[in-house]
Amino acid sequence: MPATGAKPSGTTDETDAAQAVRQMFDSIAPRYDLLNHVLSANVDRLWWRRTARRFRPILADPDASVLDICCGTGDMTMALLKHRPQGARPILAADFARAMLSRGALKFGGPGVGARAAGAAYAVPLEADALHLPLKDASLDLIVTAFGFRNLANYEAGLREFNRVLKPGGQLGILEFSEPGGLMGKVYAVYFRRVLPAIGRLICGKNGPYNYLPTSVGNFPPPAKMLALMQSTGYEGCGWQPYTFGIAGLYTAKRSLVV
Ligand SMILES: C[S@@+](CC[C@H](N)C(=O)[O-])C[C@H]1O[C@@H](n2cnc3c(N)ncnc32)[C@H](O)[C@@H]1O
Repeated sequence: MPATGAKPSGTTDETDAAQAVRQMFDSIAPRYDLLNHVLSANVDRLWWRRTARRFRPILADPDASVLDICCGTGDMTMALLKHRPQGARPILAADFARAMLSRGALKFGGPGVGARAAGAAYAVPLEADALHLPLKDASLDLIVTAFGFRNLANYEAGLREFNRVLKPGGQLGILEFSEPGGLMGKVYAVYFRRVLPAIGRLICGKNGPYNYLPTSVGNFPPPAKMLALMQSTGYEGCGWQPYTFGIAGLYTAKRSLVV
């Protein structure tokens, strides 16, 4: 049975699961960026950049409305911003963990952050739950989410909520980990399931979050199931592009024109 949503250990229902996820990310926020870069040997930066490049045509339109959901500390948002022209409509960068979002806001915030050039594109932080977005129906041209979707308490509800706020024909990009097959998969599994949690524990001084990471990737639907779920929730042109031997990959789709 494929998982219907994230279930951190000890949680019994979706409300419980969402709360545990939020608390976990709030608790690791101070060390999140350092851990990310160390554990991925900086390959995460390539993945964010590659994802942003995929949506260059939409991002280049100054009037396009763009949401980075589960933005965390904002590195995906920063990669998207690189493709926004001067004076573009700000990107909405949303997350439900305040400690993660406030770190992100320091990077991508509005005019006045750092030495931002006048007119440079920026993002607006929004504290919001991906399953209950405070946004109007059919209001967005693009939704991107990086390494956040797997943490939702209900994947189908997440896809339906994204579908609600996307314009017909609007695009969705979900960057997520996956489990590579073959010999590479076996070698990677040792790193991901044994080495990574140990390093995570060392740097952030906590057991839970870096045990949760491999478990949650293991429970996440494999590409064929995820694509079928996207198709059944109102998307067309669904595809998956593996990154770095399939350690990660980008799901892409458009909201169907016919609902
Ligand atoms: C692994 S981090 C990814 C952060 C960032 N996108 C990145 O690529 O580094 C996952 C983020 O998803 C957020 N998240 C998980 N479930 C969420 C939900 N239901 N609504 C909003 N944010 C959520 C967490 O708070 C966390 O900041």
